[in-house]
Amino acid sequence: MQSGELVMLKTSRRGKVREFIVNVCDDEFHTDFGIIDLSVLLEKSPGDNVISHMGQELTIQRPRMPDFFNHAKRTGAPMMPKDIGPVIAYTGLNKNDSVLDAGTGSGILAMYLGSIAKRVLSYEIREDFVNVARKNVLSAGLDNVEIRCGNIVDEISSVEERFDIVTLDTQDSKDVIPHVREVLNPGGFLVTYSPFFEQTKDIRKAIDEAGFYDVRTIECSEREISFSDRGTRPATSRVGHTGFISIARI
Ligand SMILES: C[S@@+](CC[C@H](N)C(=O)[O-])C[C@H]1O[C@@H](n2cnc3c(N)ncnc32)[C@H](O)[C@@H]1O
Repeated sequence: MQSGELVMLKTSRRGKVREFIVNVCDDEFHTDFGIIDLSVLLEKSPGDNVISHMGQELTIQRPRMPDFFNHAKRTGAPMMPKDIGPVIAYTGLNKNDSVLDAGTGSGILAMYLGSIAKRVLSYEIREDFVNVARKNVLSAGLDNVEIRCGNIVDEISSVEERFDIVTLDTQDSKDVIPHVREVLNPGGFLVTYSPFFEQTKDIRKAIDEAGFYDVRTIECSEREISFSDRGTRPATSRVGHTGFISIARI
């Protein structure tokens, strides 16, 4: 592994898996499994083990977005992977794309988008949330996700860049939609995420009035299957409703 690289150390004790995301550096990392000398990671590769001073073995992996999702600090309800998947798939997000996002929240959607796109600019109205999201972005090693503190309703008119995709996950998305065309590249997509029917109806009205086409709203259900000696069936503890995704194009 290289100096500064992000590494996930994975171990288990009494059947319980524990993970730590660390930077390859000269420091020591203190855990309840003992102290790990992080400089030894320089001579290691993914799949190798390191041993803490208490003799606990930890396996080295390169962390991926689901790991950063699990480890990120939360300031509110982040967008869930089941809903992020369709955003990526239906917009065809790719490495040449620039994305304008709001509100940042914990930065989960912005980070997933940033792990694929060229650039993500995300607006968050609350400064305390901005600070948490910036830390999450930094911890995920993403240098193409910029988070600005501001109200997207006011700021969108003064954004000088053009974007391929605009993602809105704020209560007042309907007030932003009339300005989205001005910042979208031809053929670009608008995506909104809204937890309530009422909010989603307002969003659809604003999208129609703004002259977008290929408009549709979906709800994405995820049903985990549980396997046990008694039988196989959909898990009884379910992920409930999250939000509605509306996608439109210019
Ligand atoms: C549901 S959270 C977004 C979660 C985010 N998509 C994620 O995946 O982590 C909504 C966020 O929008 C912020 N917000 C609300 N209105 C806003 C506005 N007008 N401009 C910018 N941010 C706003 C809120 O402070 C909150 O953090």
